[in-house]
Amino acid sequence: LGTMGAAGAAGLALGGAGGAAGYAALADGGDDGPALAAVGAARVPFRGAHQAGIVQPPQACGHLVAFDLAPGAGRKEAVALMRRWSAAAERLMAGEPVGGSDSAVAKDAGPCSLTVTFGFGASFFDRTGLVARRPRELDPLPVFSSDRLDPKRSNGDLWVQIGADDALVAFHALRTLQREAGAAAKVRWQMNGFNRSPGATAHPMTTRNLMGQVDGTNNPKPTARDFDRHVFVQPGGAQPWMAGGSYAVVRRIRMLLDDWEKLPLKAQEEVIGRRKSDGAPLTGGTETTRLDLDKLGPDGRQVIPADAHARISAPEQNGGATMLRRPFSYHDGIGPDGVPDAGLLFICWQADPSRAFVPVQRKLDRGDALSRFIRHETSALFAVPGGPAEGEYVGGRLLE
Ligand code: HEM
Repeated sequence: LGTMGAAGAAGLALGGAGGAAGYAALADGGDDGPALAAVGAARVPFRGAHQAGIVQPPQACGHLVAFDLAPGAGRKEAVALMRRWSAAAERLMAGEPVGGSDSAVAKDAGPCSLTVTFGFGASFFDRTGLVARRPRELDPLPVFSSDRLDPKRSNGDLWVQIGADDALVAFHALRTLQREAGAAAKVRWQMNGFNRSPGATAHPMTTRNLMGQVDGTNNPKPTARDFDRHVFVQPGGAQPWMAGGSYAVVRRIRMLLDDWEKLPLKAQEEVIGRRKSDGAPLTGGTETTRLDLDKLGPDGRQVIPADAHARISAPEQNGGATMLRRPFSYHDGIGPDGVPDAGLLFICWQADPSRAFVPVQRKLDRGDALSRFIRHETSALFAVPGGPAEGEYVGGRLLE
């Protein structure tokens, strides 16, 4: 699996036997150009304990779409919608056409690691009369002092996250699900993102963001003992339907690139506390070496500055607060203000946002060194139920 690309070094597992077979083909392949076939053949299973699109490596192309249920639509329409969406997602992720109405946009391509992930916003429970089953974890996020949020592009009744290693496959999934929404739900907002393509680098590396930083290094590893407890809701909780699920915090964070790019390299590195060239801590070693937060330089000052982003957000500085960050970059051209509308579609996954995203963002909001160069422009929080077993649809345990 050494060829899996984007998040290889971040330790995320490639999901699914199909995916593994695809990459195995690459290893066996010789010189006759099997790499494309390997990217196309990689397949992530739709069914399982968790929905796809959480622990798999972030794909090259992403679409995030929030829907609101249409006026008059309630629980019955929501059940029918989740059934339709689940059936379509299963076919799409298998690389199969979705029936007679298939647009053929993804024809000729394999599954390309497509994942489709569904979530419910707090307002969904009001709309469907299911307030008693709304998890406490969906309580609104606090207002942070640096927030500059656009309410029209925040929140939403329903959320769909699409990721694929091919732009046409991702678009095909997006259009199919929009069409399948029919009269039951209307798009509230949509955002498009990207990451490095598999095979773009000579060896697997953690991806870079649009500031040029290696981003994702200190993510929790799926092989770690506590990973499941931090990322997924455990059985036996207050809302049994959420067992195996997770909560996604979605923030569109603009990067103020004109300001950032003027900053000299050394100052840029001190903003994070890591080297830009290879992501290694400023205290030395390689990308995966632990940050030495206590180390002092010859001038007697901390080598990783007090306000460095990686220091302030580290779990050991936040009572163990741990989240899995799985973002996409975005670029929507030059905004009306004349500067790039570009940055990070920050998505983080956790079993309880009040013990992960919220305390960390509270601390970052007091002004870490990165704050001067970013702006949170939208915000949303979704309950993402566990993966469907055979015969189930996503969300069925909530809706039935
Ligand atoms: C670490 C960039 C926003 C939480 C990092 C690192 C970079 C980075 C380059 C170091 C490499 C790594 O471990 O991944 C950014 C950028 C952001 C952003 C460019 C906005 C555009 C956020 C937000 C949060 C967050 C909003 C959570 C509230 C973390 C955490 C770490 C981290 C938990 C790992 C710290 C550690 O354990 O060493 N970020 N980040 N980041 N960031 Fe961010």
